[in-house]
Amino acid sequence: MNSYYGELCTKIYESDKSLAEGRELDFYLSFVDRTDMRVLEPMCGNGRMLIPFMQRGIQIEGFDISEDMLKVCREKGDRFNLKPHVYYQKIEDFVSSEQFDLIMIPFGSFSLLPSELVNQSLTNLQSALKAEGKLLLTIMLKGNNVEEIPEWRETDRKVVNHELIVLSKKVQYHKEQSMLVTELKYELVKDDKIEKTEVMNFPLRLYEMKEFESILRTNGFQHIHLHEVKDGYGKGTYFRVFECSL
Ligand SMILES: C[S@@+](CC[C@H](N)C(=O)[O-])C[C@H]1O[C@@H](n2cnc3c(N)ncnc32)[C@H](O)[C@@H]1O
Repeated sequence: MNSYYGELCTKIYESDKSLAEGRELDFYLSFVDRTDMRVLEPMCGNGRMLIPFMQRGIQIEGFDISEDMLKVCREKGDRFNLKPHVYYQKIEDFVSSEQFDLIMIPFGSFSLLPSELVNQSLTNLQSALKAEGKLLLTIMLKGNNVEEIPEWRETDRKVVNHELIVLSKKVQYHKEQSMLVTELKYELVKDDKIEKTEVMNFPLRLYEMKEFESILRTNGFQHIHLHEVKDGYGKGTYFRVFECSL
């Protein structure tokens, strides 16, 4: 029942976040300026970003700890006649035998790492980066209004491939640790009966901009540049990306 980016969660994710597009995709693509560049996407999930890169002939590989996400990524690749080079790997244990021109972690995924894994993960990324390579990283920022949800609340229901999946949430904010801890419950409902339940603990480390910049510096990254991508996730939205190098 307890899972992390398990089957039902992956189905929901894939149903509305299958392929990156628009400003977000253009932003990441703008860092690929040579055909021989090698790109790495840690925490690549369902290949939302990785597959559009492959479709443009870019040499990219990725890793993740969710076998369900990786499976969806491979199946999606098959549909486009692509063979994604993706594998199971924890970022905190990642030891690369190769070095990359560009490493990117879009969509705030780095915030999924608890504080105690951050330094080791950054060190691992550093050793996988070429001397002149670039790291692009997004994080989740501290906002003003975190809504806590103390008891299970249904927040979404979706029909995916003729199956109804109901999503419920509980949310707590631990201010001292800057952790937004969400419990997500996915229920597969058939004929008014719950056929399958997945519960996922989903802690997110929220940062202040300056705080994260200082973490990058402490871990040896330099030339830190903060981009703001206007309309990045659609009109009226924006997100920020740290670009840095060694
Ligand atoms: C929200 S998804 C985002 C995927 C992708 N970055 C995107 O832009 O769509 C976050 C992914 O991070 C993966 N993940 C979480 N912790 C990880 C870790 N310690 N090492 C590698 N992957 C991890 C999860 O399994 C999940 O697939």
